[in-house]
Amino acid sequence: SVPGLLDTFGRTATDLRISLTDRCNLRCTYCMPAEGLPFQPASKLMQRDEIVRLARLATEVLGVRQVRFTGGEPLLRKDLVEIIRDVAALDARPEISLTTNAIGLSGRATALAEAGLDRVNVSLDTICPETFAIITRRPFLERVLKGIDALGLAGIRNTKINAVLLPGINDTQGPDLLEWALAGGHQLRFIEQMALDADHVWDREAMITAEQIRERLSERFDLSPDAAPRDGAPAELYRVRRRGASADEPELGTVGIIASVTEAFCDDCRRTRLTAEGGVRSCLFSHTETDLLGPMRAGAGDDEIADLWRGAMWAKPAGHEMNLAGFQQPERPMSAIGG
Ligand code: GTP
Ligand code: 5AD
Ligand code: SF4
Repeated sequence: SVPGLLDTFGRTATDLRISLTDRCNLRCTYCMPAEGLPFQPASKLMQRDEIVRLARLATEVLGVRQVRFTGGEPLLRKDLVEIIRDVAALDARPEISLTTNAIGLSGRATALAEAGLDRVNVSLDTICPETFAIITRRPFLERVLKGIDALGLAGIRNTKINAVLLPGINDTQGPDLLEWALAGGHQLRFIEQMALDADHVWDREAMITAEQIRERLSERFDLSPDAAPRDGAPAELYRVRRRGASADEPELGTVGIIASVTEAFCDDCRRTRLTAEGGVRSCLFSHTETDLLGPMRAGAGDDEIADLWRGAMWAKPAGHEMNLAGFQQPERPMSAIGG
């Protein structure tokens, strides 16, 4: 059979993340500068048919089984519903998911679900309106909560909530946020902040670590490691019970911790990424990208594009080097890579 997306460290990428735009309607401090960035003109972004062609190649030829749409903020794409409908119609239909800030989701959740969207992860770092406005630099918490509610009504289950904890800003709010997520039936995942902030002020020493997150949560909850195999997922899962609960009280749910820095999972990485301009990024922390959109627009055939993609992934680095002295942060911040 034809080889998929292999690398020199024995990993195979089956999980594709496609960034649909580099724009966002929030300005989270750990992701984008207050003034925004020099965004790409529309002509440089992949169009619907180009995205669908690459998704078809990825799933039918290169062995990709999951497609996740990211941004910037993917809901800013006016044609998001159509893109999802087209990808859901592929012969080798992948699982289709979305990572979003949920603003504007309330009006579109049903259409997205009907188009074939399977799962949604929502970025939400706090349920305190003042803290939300400080982190995102926008006063839109209400809209986010409305968006999350709309998912359930649209029949989309298993929504996950992603929260980055920032020292001195929301790091004491972990238990409250978990309480809220458990009540809504969502799986909350706490994320160690990575060196992908736009202002390049990330500080390994100041970062809230997985260990600290577990400690803080244990003030109110008992966590026990989930026995299910992790299967390449970034989150380590824990089963949650109220602290000191008696044995016959039911579990409250699960919580995840994504310890990208202190407990890196690069050895088991299954990800390949496309930027909004149609470049392959083999790793979040790559210093190079391999353009597919240019060759595609110049008339390259499927075989040629598949080979370029394989070549890009063959050169995937072993992992990030955030724990090493001399670590160089990538030029592009998270918003431009697509999470
Ligand atoms: P599922 O587990 O399928 O629900 O998705 P996911 O967790 O991979 O995707 P999501 O977009 O929700 O990403 C959650 C967090 O995982 C992001 O905030 C990143 O911090 C982290 N993450 C995602 N992809 C990578 C990656 O390739 N490398 C590292 N180190 N972290 C990643
Ligand atoms: N470190 C860790 N996670 C980040 N995200 C954005 N920037 C960073 C960063 N510097 C998260 C967001 C979103 C996901 C796609 O990436 O919270 O949920
Ligand atoms: Fe994979 Fe790179 Fe993320 Fe590590 S940092 S998990 S190698 S994409």
